[in-house]
Amino acid sequence: MLARAVTHALVGLEPRRVEVEAHLQLGVPGFAIVGLADRACQEAKHRVRSGVVSASLEWPLNRRITVNLAPAALRKEGSGFDLPISLAVLAATRQLPHERLAEHASVGELALDGRVRPVAGTLAVAEGARRAGLRWVICAAESAPEAALAGVDPVPVRHLAEAVAYLRGQIDVPSFEPVPPEALTGELGPDLAEVRGQERARRALEIAAAGAHNLLLAGPPGTGKTMLARRLPGILPPLTRQEELEVTRIHSVAGLLPPERPLVTAPPFRSPHHGASAPAMVGGGSAPRPGEVSLAHRGVLLLDELPEFPRSVLEALRQPLEDGVVAVVRAGGHAIFPARFQLVGTMNMCPCGARGDPAVECGCSSQRLAAYREKLSR
Ligand SMILES: Nc1ncnc2c1ncn2[C@@H]1O[C@H](COP(=O)(O)OP(=O)(O)OP(=O)(O)O)[C@@H](O)[C@H]1O
Ligand SMILES: [Mg+2]
Repeated sequence: MLARAVTHALVGLEPRRVEVEAHLQLGVPGFAIVGLADRACQEAKHRVRSGVVSASLEWPLNRRITVNLAPAALRKEGSGFDLPISLAVLAATRQLPHERLAEHASVGELALDGRVRPVAGTLAVAEGARRAGLRWVICAAESAPEAALAGVDPVPVRHLAEAVAYLRGQIDVPSFEPVPPEALTGELGPDLAEVRGQERARRALEIAAAGAHNLLLAGPPGTGKTMLARRLPGILPPLTRQEELEVTRIHSVAGLLPPERPLVTAPPFRSPHHGASAPAMVGGGSAPRPGEVSLAHRGVLLLDELPEFPRSVLEALRQPLEDGVVAVVRAGGHAIFPARFQLVGTMNMCPCGARGDPAVECGCSSQRLAAYREKLSR
């Protein structure tokens, strides 16, 4: 008996349709997942089996089960395949109607007791379902508001048993709490009004905000450089709906969306530590992940104490700054992440920090000063 469930794998931010086929045969009992599944995805075997048993459903004991994730050339990663795999196995064992399953996309991780957990990237998966013409997406209850943003009808489930009861027609679509409108109005960051004096620096900030310019704040310690830089997102123009969705998609794939705030409505602010590696900054990994430049898309990337960042990291920013996108190329395919951000750097005027401060004398030698400035790329 063969049954099929539909889900979507992500290549960067792009959803690609994946058919989860479950096939049962007589023979030596076993459970195999084929189709370029990564480790987390292979481990689905254990979660799916425990989840099905915990949901008081029947696990086919004396059968050979093969699950194929097609197309096989596409790399599948993560635990979001647990739910579609278990539903396909259950449909193949005639425990739920397979024609009804084919009308639904599904995504979610299974706990050993059968609970359905949210996974990163649900928004992009739901967008894939909408483009594929599927109206319904079965997902974890916590992910439902996020999936709804894609314009599909989420079927929020807390437990595998609930998903099965729904597909059998025993219960209606479980309801979910839509996000209250106040949660959709962006959280207000620190306010520029808190800065005393510093007219020129504030004016520079306003010009940068109006014209989307990058900014370097240089001055003696304690003059409010960090304080000013943190207040730039608060004066940026609001995001359009399109931009909100773009930013949300990136944060969703990175697993940074809090369930109570499924939509990012304010320009993001990222302030990575100077110990961050170049891949953490621009994105990468064998399964391409967005980096800080993409997490700051449509917002602000603050490099506090700019000269502390390794030269290689600063050089890596050059291409995203110029192009507004990062292309991560891997053997398994290539992913494009948007990265249109405003860069704000802060630095002292010299290594000892005294330069520019009328009260202190700078004791830096000219070589030390030259070496300090040399750290910045031209
Ligand atoms: N113009 C200002 N208005 C109000 N508070 C200020 C101002 N400048 C500095 N401060 C206060 O001083 C603190 C230190 O400022 P901040 O950390 O922004 O300085 P900095 O220029 O980044 O210094 P450093 O070079 O040591 O990093 C701030 O947290 C703030 O409380
Ligand atoms: Mg500072």
